[in-house]
Amino acid sequence: MKTSALSKLGQRTEAPPISWLMQLTLEHPQLISLAAGFTDNESLPVAETRELLNEILGSPKGRRSALQYGTTAGDPHLRRLTADRLLKLDSAGGTSFSASARKISDRALDVRLAPRLIPGAARKFYSPERMLITSGSQQLLYMLTECLCDPGDIVLVEDPTYFVYLGIVQSHGFCCRGIRLEADGIDLSHLEQTLEALRRRGELKRVKMLYLVSYSQNPTGITTSFVKKAAALATLKRFERAAGHPIYLLEDAAYRELRFAGHDVASALAAEGADERVVYTGTYSKPFATGVRVGFGILPKPLLTVVLRVKANHDFGTSNLLQQLLRHALASCRYERHLTELRRRYARKAATMTRAMREHFPADVRWQEPEGGLYVWARCPKPVKSGVHSRLFQSALRHDVLYVPGELCYGNDPTRRKPNGEMRISFGGVTETDIRAGITRLGATLRELL
Ligand SMILES: Cc1ncc(COP(=O)(O)O)c(C=O)c1O
Repeated sequence: MKTSALSKLGQRTEAPPISWLMQLTLEHPQLISLAAGFTDNESLPVAETRELLNEILGSPKGRRSALQYGTTAGDPHLRRLTADRLLKLDSAGGTSFSASARKISDRALDVRLAPRLIPGAARKFYSPERMLITSGSQQLLYMLTECLCDPGDIVLVEDPTYFVYLGIVQSHGFCCRGIRLEADGIDLSHLEQTLEALRRRGELKRVKMLYLVSYSQNPTGITTSFVKKAAALATLKRFERAAGHPIYLLEDAAYRELRFAGHDVASALAAEGADERVVYTGTYSKPFATGVRVGFGILPKPLLTVVLRVKANHDFGTSNLLQQLLRHALASCRYERHLTELRRRYARKAATMTRAMREHFPADVRWQEPEGGLYVWARCPKPVKSGVHSRLFQSALRHDVLYVPGELCYGNDPTRRKPNGEMRISFGGVTETDIRAGITRLGATLRELL
């Protein structure tokens, strides 16, 4: 048989890098993987989960419903707790501004005040009715993008961005335009230029959304200021008339609760006009347990309706038992206690990693001290390449250490070449001993090449 039975999507979907990175780790047990986005293994809440499950299954009222199918949108109590938590976070946030964000001056002054208005003006945006619970936030990212884009449509992404998201884009035949990053989030003038160039070429109708990983970004660790999120939203709005449809801002806040230094920043939900255009996704995987995989999102009503239909076709609801677990963890303060401990551990691990980098890396490798999340983004000096086929990557493998080549985090944007001299290194899942050993090996590899 010459023709394949596979659909276009089936034929087009490339092997996701995450699969072969994991495969490499399995094939080389002696390898120290600084590549995996795993969370801290030792502090996974084993005892808490046991207690919670005992409570749930011991409750005459709740035990049967926890083991029964739930609704597509998710447990109403968990949605309420999640919505309230978000409102609380956003009401308190929004006051941390970097120097470059302050330069946006006049416009910034208005939006800087916005978070304080939330309790009165925009409480209804944080409503459980606008929220759904998903099987990890990854499922929501997938469904949303699928609901908004057709093959050939353009997704605006940060340059670089979360590489698993790029897999969704590639697989569906969507295109990307990368928006450059600055220390406090996307470069707003580059966003404007990109949209303007697409408008001039009559391609704006293909643009449906801007995807931002706005807190301790995967892979760079950058947090986008509230000012930038509000300004990006306003920019997207200005191009909507020419596009002929809404352009959404998809804010992926996967690492929001893993901040261990500095201040939280209000989400784009707190910006003017957010109720109709901002989609906010979050997860309980990272702050509680990655094995539990419960995610959530707040969506504009029309989009929520469609995503719920798609989710009904996917799985008609996230595991009820896991939702009950999170609900009880949140309600009993065990979640909060665990998070406090996690932040302390990640702060220590991050410090261990950057201390080792200062000691073992050549002086001209550059990085920012992380303030949250799981990653350090390191830039090699020219002409060192870090890609999958580079001498550095191959030599690192020979030294039994693995990192994520930076090139994997750049979408296929035809308007620029992919940078190829960066590495994403994670301090999340590895022990401090392995962090030190892994960085020593990576440092030795770099020194050999330089
Ligand atoms: C930026 C980002 N978004 C979303 C996810 C998906 O997480 P989950 O599906 O576990 O909620 C991840 C996982 O690593 C991530 O790094």
